[in-house]
Amino acid sequence: MSLQAETRATKTASPFERFRAGFPAVRAQTYMSICDKMILHDDVRVAIDAFLDHLALASANRTQHEVRVGSAREKFAQFMNVATGTVAATRNVSDGTNSIAWAMPWKEGDNVVLTSDSEHPNNVYPWLRQRERGIEVRVVQPLANGAIDIDGMIAAMDARTRVVTAASATFAPGHRTDLQRLGEASRKRDALFLVDGVQTAGILHHDLSAEPIDAFATSTSKGLLGLYAFGFLYVSPQWIDRLSPAYLSRPAVVQQTDDHSTMGGFDYAYQPDSRRFEVGSFNLAGAYATDASISLLLDLGSKAIEKHVLSLASRLHAGLTEVGVEPAVPGSGPQQSHIITLGQLDAGGHGFSSDPVIEPLSKHLTQSKVAHTIRRGQLRMGLHAYNNEADVEATIAAVREGLARARKA
Ligand SMILES: Cc1ncc(COP(=O)(O)O)c(C=O)c1O
Repeated sequence: MSLQAETRATKTASPFERFRAGFPAVRAQTYMSICDKMILHDDVRVAIDAFLDHLALASANRTQHEVRVGSAREKFAQFMNVATGTVAATRNVSDGTNSIAWAMPWKEGDNVVLTSDSEHPNNVYPWLRQRERGIEVRVVQPLANGAIDIDGMIAAMDARTRVVTAASATFAPGHRTDLQRLGEASRKRDALFLVDGVQTAGILHHDLSAEPIDAFATSTSKGLLGLYAFGFLYVSPQWIDRLSPAYLSRPAVVQQTDDHSTMGGFDYAYQPDSRRFEVGSFNLAGAYATDASISLLLDLGSKAIEKHVLSLASRLHAGLTEVGVEPAVPGSGPQQSHIITLGQLDAGGHGFSSDPVIEPLSKHLTQSKVAHTIRRGQLRMGLHAYNNEADVEATIAAVREGLARARKA
C-alpha cells in the first residue's frame, strides 16, 4: 500500500482498528491470551523508553518522575469513575489483598467468606494467614460449572462476617461474578466487599461509584495493558477511616513538604485517603506505561470496549460450539465474560491437561500461532479491544483443524 493510501486507511479506520494497529504482537500471531498477560501498544513502549532515557541521561528527578504516578492514578480513577484520592498506586493484586487483610479492624472470631476453589491463590493466602490472628476463613464451594455460588456465599455470611471477597471474573473457567448481589449482601452485614479485579479491569465495564464494591485490587499486567508489578487499590471513602495500614512509610503519612527524606515528626497522621496504602518508591516504569495505556483505553471508553469484546466472545462461543467444543462460560447473559475456556475443569492444572482433546488441541493452536494458555486443565483464551473478527475466525478455524487431527490420532 502507498504511504498516501495507508494514511487514508488509518484516517477512515474505526477507533478499534486504529487501536489494534498499535500492537506489533497482533501482526505476528492471533493473540488470545490477555488472561495471562498484556501486550504492549507502541505508545506504551514509547512512554517506557522515555523513562529509560531519563534514567540513562539523569534528566529527571524523582518528583518529576512521580508526576506520572499521579497521572496514572488519576486516569485509572477516571476509567473506574471514582475520585482520584480513593486510589492507591500499588504493585499487584497481592499487594491490594494483603493491604486490606492486615488493615481490617478484626476482632477474634470474625470471619471472611470466599470461594477458594475459584480464586487465584493470591486472594486466598492473605486470608489463610489471618487465621493466626483468630479469624475464621469460611470456604464456600463453587457451582458444578466452576462459577462462584453467590447464594452459597450469601448463606455463609453472618453477623461476624467482616470481609467478603471474590474475583470479578475467575481466571478459569472465567465466569463473570454477580458483584451487585454479593456487594449488596456484604453491605447489609457491614462487611467489606473486596474484589480481585485483575481479570476484568480494562476489559469489562466497571463503575466503582455505582457498584457496591468497597475495595478493588488489580495489577496493570493484564487488561490495563501496563507492566508487571504496577497496580492499583481502590478503597471506598466509607471504609478508609476504619482501615489502618500494616506498612507505614513516607507516602502513607501526611507531610508538610514534598521532600522524600525529611521526617515529619513522631506524631504522624495517615493520609486521609487511599494513599495510606502506598509504600516507599514506586515502579516508575510501570507508572509511565500505565499512564500511556489507560489514556488509550479512555479514548475507546470502557462501555464501548465491553460491547466490542462481548460481541466477539459471543461469535467465538457460537463458532466453537458449531465445530464441536462448547465453551464453559456462556456466550451471552450475566455470566458471560471475555474469557473462553474449553475442556474439563481441573482435568490437569497450570500448563497441562489430562483431557484427551485439550493437549493435542493446544499443540495445534500453538503451531497455528493462536496464543492461549492452559489453566486448571482447561484451554483458556481471552479477548480484548485489539482483537477483531479475523482473530475470532482464525481461532475457530484452528480449533476445527486441531479437533479433526486430535480425533484422527
Ligand atoms: C484472578 C487473579 N488474581 C491475581 C493474579 C495475580 O496476582 P498478582 O497480581 O498479585 O501477581 C492473577 C494472575 O493470573 C489472577 O488471574
